[in-house]
Amino acid sequence: MPRVFSQELLERLRSAKHVAILTGAGISAESGVPTFQGGFWGKYSPEELATVEGYIKDPKLVWDWYAERRRELRQIKPNAGHLALARLEQRGLRCTVITQNIDGLHQLAGSARVIELHGSLHRVKCFSENTLASGWENAAESPPRCPDCGAWLRPDVVWYGETLPPLALAEAMAASRACDLFFSIGTATQVYPAASLPQTALAAGVPVAEVNPDYTPFTAYATYVLRGPAGQVLPRLLAATWPA
Ligand code: APR
Repeated sequence: MPRVFSQELLERLRSAKHVAILTGAGISAESGVPTFQGGFWGKYSPEELATVEGYIKDPKLVWDWYAERRRELRQIKPNAGHLALARLEQRGLRCTVITQNIDGLHQLAGSARVIELHGSLHRVKCFSENTLASGWENAAESPPRCPDCGAWLRPDVVWYGETLPPLALAEAMAASRACDLFFSIGTATQVYPAASLPQTALAAGVPVAEVNPDYTPFTAYATYVLRGPAGQVLPRLLAATWPA
């Protein structure tokens, strides 16, 4: 945990007009959501739960597993890290939160501009037509059927081997290049293309601060390394930047 932050970082944050923030599972860890490396898939493998092939093989298993995660989320609250990012935006500077998380906790914390690169557990779409669906909540079948075409429904999340929503990715890349300061928070920076965004920022001349208790493949490139849990580092960073 940094006891003092670099004055240069504090000054950059103080004078920034636009901050882009890439977040990963680590920012939700202190809310009680397991990280992907820390047991998110439980006794299953990502191949079983997060691929089209896995879904076709056992749609009920996959649907029920995500339904259980959705139920669990009702009890889960944003933590001090999410709230600090929402407060940053409330200070009036433009914040683009680019998240790989599907839990909706940034929005719940109050962040208004959130780009969801990997979809959302809160949305459901037609497996056949890829269109968002509603009115499935009380269906008896598992998975429920699309009200329009009768195909199965699936969570609106990006599975392994699938492409990211093109508009979300384009907006994330544009924000990474256009911002004054970029944060990479709670992500192992191992899954692409999200993992390329900190490099995209650096290539555009934007300094990048990494917030993570551990080293990642990106750490060696980071302009500032803030070692520690996001729920502790981020509130302290805000307090140091704008002392009361
Ligand atoms: N604060 C900040 N970072 C933390 C914290 C914390 N309290 N706890 C853990 N971390 C860090 C870990 O050190 C690790 O670097 O968060 C990172 C979590 O890494 P992953 O579990 O791999 O999650 P993420 O990088 O978000 O994964 C990216 O991979 O499995 C796919 O689609 C899935 O969106 C996911 C993507």
